[in-house]
Amino acid sequence: MRQKLDNALGFIKKQAAYFVLCTLYFVLSSCGKSDPDSPGIEYMPDMYRSPSHEANLSTTFGDDTIQVDRMPVAGTISRGFMPYVYANDTGGYANAGRYLRNPIPFSEKVLGEGEVLYTKYCTHCHGATGGGDGLVAAKLPGPPPSYSSPGLMNLPEGKAFHTITYGKGMMGPHASQLTQEERWKIVHYVQKLQKLGAPAPAPATAPVEVAATTTVSAK
Ligand code: HEC
Repeated sequence: MRQKLDNALGFIKKQAAYFVLCTLYFVLSSCGKSDPDSPGIEYMPDMYRSPSHEANLSTTFGDDTIQVDRMPVAGTISRGFMPYVYANDTGGYANAGRYLRNPIPFSEKVLGEGEVLYTKYCTHCHGATGGGDGLVAAKLPGPPPSYSSPGLMNLPEGKAFHTITYGKGMMGPHASQLTQEERWKIVHYVQKLQKLGAPAPAPATAPVEVAATTTVSAK
């Protein structure tokens, strides 16, 4: 009899322990129910709550304000960066053609680099030989004219650079994909294609005297 009583008591104790544990579990896991965004109790929160810094924003920690990646001071430019001075309008286009000269001297190496870039960024529209017959060109309402067409065979290098920078008609701007240096290398290659495909010997049109001061660009 005594034995039976002990067994029953033991059973009840176990049940009580389970009950307490379950109650604790529900109480703890339901913490923060009043706030649906609360994650409840967090174990070692700093492991998964590292401070994240957004670029060009300031973050406040206590009394400190941390400036992540500061914006340049107004009216200044970064070292080595020269802004492209010609505006994206017809006047800018005309002036680029008149005054802008390729600052990168021609060499076979530069031409080769220009070709690689041209193949990546331009061939699909302009075609491998610049005939305006790239695969994408066929889908455009107005395919690009051949570099050796009468309108383009004498295109000044400054205008070519300007167009690569800002885009023109169905051609998008390439300033964000290509540095100025890369754009000028491509211009060398485009000039090669202009000459290669030219139906007649192309007379040089661009006046050469103006160079130095305006060869900067940096869009
Ligand atoms: C989406 C297709 C497309 C891509 C990509 C493209 N172009 Fe063009 N490009 C055109 C079209 C279309 C024109 C004709 C624009 C006009 O005169 O309205 C053009 C015109 C030009 C001209 C003549 C500019 C002028 O001032 O008349 C040059 C030079 C040129 N592209 C070079 C390039 C180079 C270099 C690249 C690669 C960096 C390139 N294009 C990428 C479609 C493209």
